[in-house]
Amino acid sequence: MATVLKEPSRTFNEYLIIPGYSGADAIPENVSLKTPVVRFQKGEEPEISMNIPLTSAVMQAVSDNNMAVALAKEGGISFIFGSQSIESQAAMVKKAKSHKAGFVPSDSNLRPDQTLQDVIDLKAEKGHSTVSITEDGTSDGKLVGIVTSRDYRVSRMDVDTPISEFMTPFDKLIYGKDGITLSEANDIIWDNKVNQLPVIDDNQRLKAFVFRKDYDSHKENPNELLDAGKRYVVGAGINTRDFKERVPALVDAGVDIMTIDSSEGYSEWQAITLKWIRDTYGNKVKVGAGNVVDADGFNFLAECGADFIKVGIGGGSICITREQKGIGRGQASSIIEVAQARDEYFKKTGTYIPICSDGGIVYDYHITLALAMGADFVMLGRYFARFDESPSAKLMVNGNYVKEYWGEGSARARNWQRYDLGGDGKMKFEEGVDSYVPYAGTLHDNVLRSLNKVKSTMCNCGVLTIPDLHKNAKLTLVSAVSIVEGGAHDVIPKEISTTGNK
Ligand code: IMP
Repeated sequence: MATVLKEPSRTFNEYLIIPGYSGADAIPENVSLKTPVVRFQKGEEPEISMNIPLTSAVMQAVSDNNMAVALAKEGGISFIFGSQSIESQAAMVKKAKSHKAGFVPSDSNLRPDQTLQDVIDLKAEKGHSTVSITEDGTSDGKLVGIVTSRDYRVSRMDVDTPISEFMTPFDKLIYGKDGITLSEANDIIWDNKVNQLPVIDDNQRLKAFVFRKDYDSHKENPNELLDAGKRYVVGAGINTRDFKERVPALVDAGVDIMTIDSSEGYSEWQAITLKWIRDTYGNKVKVGAGNVVDADGFNFLAECGADFIKVGIGGGSICITREQKGIGRGQASSIIEVAQARDEYFKKTGTYIPICSDGGIVYDYHITLALAMGADFVMLGRYFARFDESPSAKLMVNGNYVKEYWGEGSARARNWQRYDLGGDGKMKFEEGVDSYVPYAGTLHDNVLRSLNKVKSTMCNCGVLTIPDLHKNAKLTLVSAVSIVEGGAHDVIPKEISTTGNK
């Protein structure tokens, strides 16, 4: 006879947090959201932690090199999508790893024999007024001068004038040498009263620009997540099919952490993949696994050597797995059971394996609930898809700005590896939909607002860290009628919000 669980499968919306005693020091400024990402032994520090408990989903519509940089700036980790060729995923990882905060690759470049008209055209196309002049007109060619709007007056000059006649030539340029720090570059900018500083290598080839106008924005990211070499921490998704080729390429590209991206992770395929990674790299290479929804799945992947374990089947906003296959479990029930298993495993073995709540976060308070239920961090798709930094198109639909957001199991993404059970490499049916989400602006502003809410709630519970939230949170189930009581009710709302997380 089948096992039938006594408890129903519950979702975030069915729970609330009961506030605890808050001391006078329980203010958002005192809250630390630092959280472990990879397994560690009792009494030791994890090799990778995040400064905020957010990761972005392994999805085409969410996580590319741009998102990786934007999220690392805030203190989280993006897992660059794996449903692309090994070469293009590795190139994205490389791009994100070589992005130096404040060092911008030159995007407007011309040759000295081109003309003022070319400068005018390029400025109109790119919208930037600094043009690097390199011997071959490339962004990393030999730098021979720069042109800014101070170098020409369109009304007084012939548009056919060659750039070499009006550019600021190299011997009059203030420049920095490759390897200088951002603060040294800013000192040169301030000491010489220039607006931009080209950075060149020993062969006078252009590496990047540092702009005066960016100075303040880099001081705004006290949480940014950097590796030992001061580069952004970057993640990537892998699958259980081509890992022998993909993992080495990603490691070569400088990836810090990977995760097996699979809709159902309690499988021999994950064991084989994890074993190969451990046999090949030992513990040097960090890799998460999943997704699971119960203690059995957790214990299996823990024994297979996963560095962290992702929890969640069927709760994603674009997911139709439960409808199609009848598998899954409410996200709250899944997290609660797996967190218990994690704590027992820690007690038994002295090894702490962080868990990630993946999918189904709709309201900001769901992040706090997931953490209170025991998650060490969360993974979000829909949430990040709404921002400027996501790779998908921003469109106007019915008078509102939206962004496209599609599941990895949709016909559009065709990520068969995520759903593969050793078959013929084809998707047999869809497990995800193609959709729009309301456009919501910049990642920075939204993450700041969401995490302020998380911190506020933690203060209401009288806790200043995520581990303390795990220990002290008190949760209650809500009845159907008390859900009505929780929203605005019995009033006529003046306006309805159309953007984003509540
Ligand atoms: P969201 O934050 O609720 O949008 O959920 C994102 C999560 O949904 C991802 O991290 C994946 O675990 C999962 N997911 C992504 N694509 C699909 C799909 O096509 N079907 C089912 N689940 C998906």
